[in-house]
Amino acid sequence: MKPRFLMCPPDYFGVEYNINPWMTDNLGRVDHAHAKNQWRNLFDTLSKHAKIELLEPQPRLPDMVFTANAGLVKENTFIPSRFQYPERQPEEIHFRHWFSSKGYDLADLADPENLSEPVSFEGEGDALLQHNKNLLWMGYGFRTNPQTRDLITDLFPQCITLQLVDPRFYHLDTCFCLLPGGQVMYYPPAFSQESHQIIEDNFAIEDRLEIDEENALYFTCNAVVIENNLILNHASPALISQLASLGYKAILTPVDEFLKAGGGTKCLVLCL
Ligand code: ARG
Repeated sequence: MKPRFLMCPPDYFGVEYNINPWMTDNLGRVDHAHAKNQWRNLFDTLSKHAKIELLEPQPRLPDMVFTANAGLVKENTFIPSRFQYPERQPEEIHFRHWFSSKGYDLADLADPENLSEPVSFEGEGDALLQHNKNLLWMGYGFRTNPQTRDLITDLFPQCITLQLVDPRFYHLDTCFCLLPGGQVMYYPPAFSQESHQIIEDNFAIEDRLEIDEENALYFTCNAVVIENNLILNHASPALISQLASLGYKAILTPVDEFLKAGGGTKCLVLCL
């Protein structure tokens, strides 16, 4: 069965505020026509491998294209995100409406009194499922509060949290990519020493593809993975052949207009 993804057309996409280092020098600098073409090309590429559902874009919500941050889906249940920054909080209601209108059960993150910080959770941007182990990997440090983990244990009993330390890689999906053969492709300096150790403890050396800064800065880890295909913004020739030797095919789909806002191909997609 084909995977199903949620995407949101980039009608109102732009860099209009500054909530991550990628946006800082790109305020007002998006080429809208180019962004639309790149998004369309990604849509067409993904459509060959997946069924895509579309969410209606909303004016003045320029980051809504990044549907990976809408929340996290498990079967018929949707855990809606609680955005860290006020700029993105108005997106929440639109994501919620879409999922309720499609018949999903909404599992809200409650605000338990014992949390020392407010709840924040940015969906699949910081929560990636390792299917073969039914294990959720969560990122924290910039957007998602690590205590959120305790709020979703009913749905995801097995969860490991990783601390992000490089502000350029502020969501887990910008620097960590699980592959269906049991490997992980990741950028080690984006993680704290302790989290680095956790990754090493969970993946044998031959299953760890450590990528260099050049690839990382092109959002290579931010790949949409469908079976053995990796749909990504960029990968160096050396990485492409390394992936090929493991049986993976890199399908380069440039989305550099979206990199200006701090997102690659995978940020533009949510798994349903
Ligand atoms: N400008 C958006 C933000 O900073 C980009 C989100 C990228 N999404 C992702 N899943 N990494 O929130």
